[in-house]
Amino acid sequence: MSKMRVVQVSEAKGPFELVERDIPEPGHGSVRIKVEACGICHSDSFTKEGTFPGIRYPRVPGHEVAGIIDQAGEDVTGWTQGQRVAVGWHGGHCGYCDSCRRGDFILCRISRQTTGITYDGGYADYMIAPAGALALIPDELSAVEAGPLVCAGVTTFNSLRNSGARAGDLVAILGVGGLGHLAVQFAAKMGFKTVAIARGADKEPLARQLGAAHYIDSQKQDAAAELTKMGGARVILATVTNGKAMSAVLGGLGVDGKLIVLGAPAEPLEVVAGLLIGGRRSIAGWPSGASIDSQDTLRFSALSGVRSMNEVFPLERAADAYELMMSGKARFRVVLSTS
Ligand SMILES: NC(=O)c1ccc[n+]([C@@H]2O[C@H](COP(=O)([O-])OP(=O)(O)OC[C@H]3O[C@@H](n4cnc5c(N)ncnc54)[C@H](OP(=O)(O)O)[C@@H]3O)[C@@H](O)[C@H]2O)c1
Ligand SMILES: [Zn+2]
Repeated sequence: MSKMRVVQVSEAKGPFELVERDIPEPGHGSVRIKVEACGICHSDSFTKEGTFPGIRYPRVPGHEVAGIIDQAGEDVTGWTQGQRVAVGWHGGHCGYCDSCRRGDFILCRISRQTTGITYDGGYADYMIAPAGALALIPDELSAVEAGPLVCAGVTTFNSLRNSGARAGDLVAILGVGGLGHLAVQFAAKMGFKTVAIARGADKEPLARQLGAAHYIDSQKQDAAAELTKMGGARVILATVTNGKAMSAVLGGLGVDGKLIVLGAPAEPLEVVAGLLIGGRRSIAGWPSGASIDSQDTLRFSALSGVRSMNEVFPLERAADAYELMMSGKARFRVVLSTS
């Protein structure tokens, strides 16, 4: 049997290991993907550190996968060999529970699958994915461009398009990392008055290039006060990994303003009740999106010119690539390439 390379983690907090495995066969309802590229998301730390409940090891991380269908399994209709596809965080669903029947696949209650968590992901030459997890990649996008768009991209695009903000509204993006640098672009292209908030001055020129009308250096300025001066934000999209940083901007929400929590800090948020009550402000979370949302994100990006800025590493250097992402020094996404 032919072999492939995968980068796996054998136990929680264990190192990345480059190993050879047999190329797997796609089962009922699944396809085998020849992986071309896979973005490295901060959420891969759930697999690496074992902080997501119920992970079984060894596990191959990676949920920003782009490649080509290499073989379709039994009973797969509508997807064929040779199609260019991407797989994000949402790795499949049952299709018949209450949530799925409402089209809310991301909240499937019966058999919700998570790529790189409940099954092996894209730090590999090949992977198996359920057909329901596939998004079609438009011709305009390369695999390296498409990968980050199906987690960092769909999470920010989908939360913004469902946020209730309307063109012209003040929308702030807290954190300019993998998610944040795409959020700034989506917000600007959707017609929001876009404010980028990050630590330090060095990200300002890049944030402005990506479409931010204003930049707030949270180390020098009080971001909440600055947003209030601008009239208060309709939405603050929080992409940071730090709870204190999220709590600190709440005062910058305008009337009916909403903090949308995307980043997943371990520590709790702190909020003054009066702030929420007085101005009908709210805090909500948002979980990425289903495969059709990923496909919408890819199409919107192809159409509008939104692109992830990527630093590309070969698959065998996954450990270095992951370290660069975790260091916060990547500008802005790190992507593994198998070629
Ligand atoms: N909701 C979802 O569905 C979803 C999907 C994907 C990822 N996530 C989560 O979103 C978060 C971001 O992921 P990512 O891949 O974009 O990560 P990333 O590229 O590593 O970016 C991390 C961001 O966090 C900020 N940050 C880090 N340490 C900080 C601190 N001490 N104080 C303030 N800000 C700090 C950085 O802010 P600066 O720009 O100021 O440096 C940077 O913008 C992670 O928690 C990830 O698990 C959630
Ligand atoms: Zn992710």
